[in-house]
Amino acid sequence: MAENVDKPEASEGGVAPKVPPAPKGVQNKVRINHLAQMKQAGRPLVMITAYDACFGALADEAGADMILVGDSAGMVVHGFDTTIPVSVEMMEMHVAAVARGAKRAMIVADMPFMSYQVCTQDAVRNAGRFIKAGAQVVKIEGFGPRIRETVRALHETGIPVIGHIGLVPQSVHALSGYRVQGRTEAAAERLMEMARLQEEAGLSAIVLECIPSALARDITEAIQIPTIGIGAGPHCDGQVLVMHDLLGLTKNPPSFARKYIDLRAGTLRAFRKYARDVRERAFPEPKE
Ligand code: KIV
Repeated sequence: MAENVDKPEASEGGVAPKVPPAPKGVQNKVRINHLAQMKQAGRPLVMITAYDACFGALADEAGADMILVGDSAGMVVHGFDTTIPVSVEMMEMHVAAVARGAKRAMIVADMPFMSYQVCTQDAVRNAGRFIKAGAQVVKIEGFGPRIRETVRALHETGIPVIGHIGLVPQSVHALSGYRVQGRTEAAAERLMEMARLQEEAGLSAIVLECIPSALARDITEAIQIPTIGIGAGPHCDGQVLVMHDLLGLTKNPPSFARKYIDLRAGTLRAFRKYARDVRERAFPEPKE
């Protein structure tokens, strides 16, 4: 499986895309030191969210470099309106399931709201639970002096950290809703400064969510660690999409998400056909 990561689909006519080669070792297991190497090599990082073993295994088999077990689970799996109700226990279960399904991809555990903000001890204890569950790195939202302290403690414990700035969904109330960030000059400068501080603090990569493409480009050029964009344009070092958006399962997906397949329509068709077959006694047939 691992050697087939760059192999084109038959439907693509067998023409391999022009992708810079992966650093040594990436074929077998993506590790934290590979992230900056991928940036240097100009090889885009592919991140997909997943929440269970089945889709974790599929994302892995498809060659995703990183699988984000996002707290978006709260919305796309558990049906909440925001990510705020997500608990450590919920995330621990999702992380363990994905880790059982994936072999090559790096598993990134999203630290849910209130699992790292209150105190450093909480953050280390909770991050440790995700690492024990099978993650290789944790992701936290926002950055400030207190989080900097937390990142230091996580590093001392041997836990790598990925940042997330721009639209940080755990702060949806403070941001007055889900809206593009970094639009004014002052806001853009704050995000640039935050990215620089995150690099200085030793973070391994930064997710840039919903910021103007030009700002994402400037941040990407200003720092050595990779940026992974979502709704942040094409200039980031990698991209991440929520799998439900990518697969067309989300009823009202964000405008930046590209639907690669319409599984919502396909699933509805299959469920309806099954219901009809049962009602008409067309399923099961005697031989089934
Ligand atoms: O939780 C999540 O899926 C995320 C992505 C939107 C980056 O944080």
